[in-house]
Amino acid sequence: MKKGYFGSFGGQYVPELLMPPLGELEEACATILPDADFQRELDILLRTYAGRETPLTHCPSLSARLGFNLWLKREDLLHTGAHKVNNTLGQALLARRMGKTALVAETGAGQHGVATAAAAARLGLSCTVFMGEEDVRRQAPNVMRMRLLGARVHPVTNGTKTLKDAINEALRFWIAEQRTTHYCFGTAAGPHPFPTLVRDLQSVIGKETMAQCREAFGALPDTVVACVGGGSNAIGMFFPFIMNPEAAAVRLVGIEAGGTGEPGCHSSAPLNLGSPGVLHGQHTMLLQDKEGQILPSHSVSAGLDYPGVGPEHAHFHAAGLAEYHLVVDSRALAGFAELCRHEGIIPALESSHALAWVLDNAADLPGGGHVVVNLSGRGDKDMDIIREHLPALCA
Ligand SMILES: Cc1ncc(COP(=O)(O)O)c(C=O)c1O
Repeated sequence: MKKGYFGSFGGQYVPELLMPPLGELEEACATILPDADFQRELDILLRTYAGRETPLTHCPSLSARLGFNLWLKREDLLHTGAHKVNNTLGQALLARRMGKTALVAETGAGQHGVATAAAAARLGLSCTVFMGEEDVRRQAPNVMRMRLLGARVHPVTNGTKTLKDAINEALRFWIAEQRTTHYCFGTAAGPHPFPTLVRDLQSVIGKETMAQCREAFGALPDTVVACVGGGSNAIGMFFPFIMNPEAAAVRLVGIEAGGTGEPGCHSSAPLNLGSPGVLHGQHTMLLQDKEGQILPSHSVSAGLDYPGVGPEHAHFHAAGLAEYHLVVDSRALAGFAELCRHEGIIPALESSHALAWVLDNAADLPGGGHVVVNLSGRGDKDMDIIREHLPALCA
């Protein structure tokens, strides 16, 4: 396989000015990441600061209704509230070892921004976060958290004022500040080596899940389901399964956000509804028009609201190594309500998409079997959206 490619997807489609910092990062990934001291320091941070390992929780009421065992991988219980901190602690530690003094990041739902701000504060780095103005509005509590943690948050007013535009601004900032600054990319997307770096840092999710399933019910699960925005929580869950020949029979299901589902409305489902193209330094599946202009995306969950997807998912999709479906806003909200009321867990709206697919497709899942949903984050950040969309649930 060509370096930095997953099948025909991936690569480094960037301006010349980004080649030096990408080369420097590639070198650091090859030399610093595998170092035993680095791995030890990261492991201590993940365990004693972030709260790994996260539990695998059985859902007794939903399982009784569904006819199979529903398990949740509880990334929502991590420090800062989502899986994002697995990646930011790894990248912040890497940046410090590279001699950088600052981090820049983009954020959609704000979870990656908060996790970057926390990692930066913890490791003595300064932090700048770009966030679309629309996301600043709908994820206000996370903006406050980033600022409390010492990050400078820049609202982005270009384009659709969401994640895509925030990434553009962060890349521009990185070009200017590359000597002192590491770009802490928030998902398994972008130019090489980010998709591989983020995947490797998030693979702890899948590795723990496999061991926990063996301990809980003596086998690997029948089906594993994760939501897909850029794709980091899903790739972190899927990759160890794909690499293990004993897991060849495990069904891997990624869930994209279908938006409102009304005819003519925008979605965030490039694998289901898009075509190949280039965005943010990578060749991948994109929502675009015939001329290659990127279409606006939409999802009720800010963290899934992105017109592209990480290149390794595009490859898994093309090669049939995983399957990808979409779930619309209203079904994700229904899944959210079910988990609140029946299991006492308030999930992030992103993770609710994965949960909703399981609830809506129970008839196709193995009776008496075991299904794991990656609960990528908690729903505290989504209270304003829930109040607006599910007023009866809040009354
Ligand atoms: C809780 C949660 N889950 C999922 C995502 C989607 O990102 P990814 O596809 O990289 O896991 C986000 C993004 O902000 C998030 O906050």
